[in-house]
Amino acid sequence: MSGQKTFYLTTPIYYVNDAPHIGHAYTTLACDVLARFKRLDGYDVFFLTGTDEHGQKVEKSAAAAGIDPQRFTDEVSQNFRDLADFMNYSHDEFIRTTEKRHAKASQALWTALQENGHIYLDTYSGWYAVRDEAFYAEDELTEGPDGKKIAPSGAECEWVEEPSYFFDLSKWQEPLLKFYDENPDFIAPPSRRNEVISFVKGGMHDLSVSRTSFSWGVDVPDDEKHIMYVWLDALTNYITALDFPEKDAELYKKFWPADLHMVGKDILRFHAVYWPAFLMGAGLKPPRRIFAHGWWTNEGEKISKSLGNVIDPRQIVETYGLDQVRYFLLREVPFGNDGDFSHRSIVNRINSELANDLGNLAQRSLSMVGRYCGGILPVPGDLLDPDEQILGHAEQLIQDIRGHIDAQAFHEALEVIWGLVRAANAYVDAQAPWQLHKENPARRDTVLYVLAETIRHLGIYIQPFMPSSAAKMLNLLAVPENARDFRHIGSHSALIGGAELIKPEPVFPRFMEADTSEMR
Ligand code: MSP
Repeated sequence: MSGQKTFYLTTPIYYVNDAPHIGHAYTTLACDVLARFKRLDGYDVFFLTGTDEHGQKVEKSAAAAGIDPQRFTDEVSQNFRDLADFMNYSHDEFIRTTEKRHAKASQALWTALQENGHIYLDTYSGWYAVRDEAFYAEDELTEGPDGKKIAPSGAECEWVEEPSYFFDLSKWQEPLLKFYDENPDFIAPPSRRNEVISFVKGGMHDLSVSRTSFSWGVDVPDDEKHIMYVWLDALTNYITALDFPEKDAELYKKFWPADLHMVGKDILRFHAVYWPAFLMGAGLKPPRRIFAHGWWTNEGEKISKSLGNVIDPRQIVETYGLDQVRYFLLREVPFGNDGDFSHRSIVNRINSELANDLGNLAQRSLSMVGRYCGGILPVPGDLLDPDEQILGHAEQLIQDIRGHIDAQAFHEALEVIWGLVRAANAYVDAQAPWQLHKENPARRDTVLYVLAETIRHLGIYIQPFMPSSAAKMLNLLAVPENARDFRHIGSHSALIGGAELIKPEPVFPRFMEADTSEMR
């Protein structure tokens, strides 16, 4: 549709050296909620995720598994694709960096940088952490008990000495600082923005952007001894998916610069420093915004393979339910902060906020429509102040939610939605339709209609977070599928007084402890 607002957002592409874990599920979940929200809000959305398949780490993992890297990456990449379907993510495309079109895009970016004089040949000698696929300066490292050099991330470093092409990153200090200054929303949350600015102010070395000691990567144009540094290759995925460097690439014209690259805090520097420098160096526009979220711990412990406490997203979904997990991950911590996954806190939220607050509101309201009105949605009479108030609250809420979503404050969006849930529960208690049933059936009908209308709004608002539960709720109210986007907020037309409703069933069951006693 011409003139439609567009929104392009991306997840990091995930290394295929390992099975997907909660960290991967979390980053993509946040993007999924955002993508669904924007679609409901009338945007033409392009939501990209995928896998990062080159580099030493993946090459080593393939060797350890005894299979050739291409077959290895085919298998592991498929696990990520399967997880995305399992989690009900609504990505528009899944990219793999071993695709031909991606080598072409990476080489075109390289060539543009070279033509603009930003790449030169020299020798790299310094420290490299394969786990992070990152170079480190001596003064960033500490010494482990066995004398090994350790990066700030905890990854072991090895000494590398080989011919390498360099990108002239040291010349980008001023342009980057100017760019951050002119685009105050480029890095979020603000604490992360300050970190990046002080890193750049501290001065930067030129960046080694090719390797010669292994071969699993994209070839450097016109120099077959070199492959590109995996981060230069990986970052390019964001424009490969838009058909860069095709002439007249429609997707690129439509969606670049990206509205948001969502990343974890550990990979912010690559996205907020290197990536805009590469793009500006190639004469392309930097993305509009990078959001760095926090990390999860498990019952208070850092998650690590050696501790054996890695959280498998499939397992928690099987235990608690998909929408319950989606809700918990975005409700439990202010988005951007670190958070702790614990059995006690997820059960608490499921039982108090989902089952009690929202689930009960819908169940008791719709059961009364069943019991008192024969399952027919009543036609309302004149509205009184409390009715107008709750309906006004429901209608106005979209503005608050939109503001929070645009700031990636998912927890705040859910908080204000639950403000309406609480107001609606207070409204039922105050209006006491069971009492009205005996005394004033006409007023009872109005109250039940107002409740149904409030629940319709709640169903619409929770769709991005809990798509299947929201659909169940809207089905209970017989809201047509084509009347569930944000254009239908506040319009009463979607609820038809006189419509016959199906018998309500609880949308959010309580979590019973016995369900997991075996597992713990
Ligand atoms: N391949 C790079 C990204 C390239 S993007 C051009 C990469 N891949 S990764 O597989 O390691 O990605 C991990 C993602 O999961 C990162 O966003 C990271 O922050 C996130 N998490 C990894 N462990 C995590 C937690 N324990 N908690 C939350 N997120 C974490 O980096």
